[in-house]
Amino acid sequence: MSIMLYLDNAATTVRKPRSVYEAVIRAMVSGSGNAGRGANKLSIGSVKTIIEAQEAAAELFNVKNENNIIFTQNATYALNMVILGTLGAKDNVLITQMEHNSVLRPAVLHGNYTIAAADKYGYVHPSEFRKRIGDHTKLTVCTHISNVCGTKQPVNDAAKAAHNAGALFMADCSQSAGAETVDMEKMDADFIACAGHKGLMGPMGTGILCIRDPDKIRAVITGGTGSDSQSLKQPEYMPDKFHSGTMNIPAIAGLKEGIRFVLREGAENIGAYEKMLSRALREKLENMRGVRVYGKSDSGITAFDVDGYGSEEIGELLGENIIVRCGYHCAPLAHKALGTYDGGLVRVSFGYFNRRRDVCNFADALYKILKNI
Ligand SMILES: Cc1ncc(COP(=O)(O)O)c(C=O)c1O
Repeated sequence: MSIMLYLDNAATTVRKPRSVYEAVIRAMVSGSGNAGRGANKLSIGSVKTIIEAQEAAAELFNVKNENNIIFTQNATYALNMVILGTLGAKDNVLITQMEHNSVLRPAVLHGNYTIAAADKYGYVHPSEFRKRIGDHTKLTVCTHISNVCGTKQPVNDAAKAAHNAGALFMADCSQSAGAETVDMEKMDADFIACAGHKGLMGPMGTGILCIRDPDKIRAVITGGTGSDSQSLKQPEYMPDKFHSGTMNIPAIAGLKEGIRFVLREGAENIGAYEKMLSRALREKLENMRGVRVYGKSDSGITAFDVDGYGSEEIGELLGENIIVRCGYHCAPLAHKALGTYDGGLVRVSFGYFNRRRDVCNFADALYKILKNI
């Protein structure tokens, strides 16, 4: 049986630190009560897990008030909560061509949106934000690192343009959290949304939303919080305002350990290692006939296509033991910018647990395929 080569860490990190597995198992086996539902020790233990996870995330993202950190079931929920919870009918949301469907679709659902264009490297020039922002722009959303080609966006410029126009700014840090400095203050973001199951190495079914000013966002999901239960109105205080329904305590316990791992290792060190692997692969691919690499090598993502072949065809030829992501990566407009709307891209994404030999093994496998087609 061949060994599996997992190179799809931009989708989710399959391998996690041992402490993450242990925390999930502990939370399941020793019993997790329903957080905020009752004063019993199991319930209180679950509240403690949430608070500790908030503290870890606050440290990682430099969020001043850890109560303003919300746990969601993925990045998609966090992004939707902000887009649908900040805009009124007449408000415009400025997004970029590089956004994931988790931003594109709620913006389209809202209906009043503008798109800042990206160049052929998948980069949205700062002037695009300044140019596209209008009197009705209430919110700007920009991905920090493109999930398609790994290009890093000028989020500080996007935040500045938004604030100069009196708009709010949200960074989608799904690809950068855990592999880049993501600092709410330095970024001057009003909201940071990210997945918990990618670079933060938490379990699937986790996402994070950091909120600067909870008064600037309505709760679009309301329900039981275990607090003020006789009131028919959603609590306005944090985090209850956005924590409706039973929380996924085993997953949050795992995420807490994933974030602690990132804090110990250093997000910049993790990112530097992944970039090193990605650049080594890029160099090899650029020397293969018919292969074109996209983006700017700003992250652990290397995206390429092969002349005359669709990305899915290459994926099939790579076989089931080499796990990469082919196609459109839920970001169709990004492919229009890159010129790959017809056929998509093969995306190789490295994680902290990949080794240098994985670069060689992938390049060798691709080389053999290309020799035979
Ligand atoms: C940039 C970006 N934003 C949002 C998402 C959505 O993340 P999730 O699947 O956790 O909702 C992804 C997932 O790949 C992503 O890459």
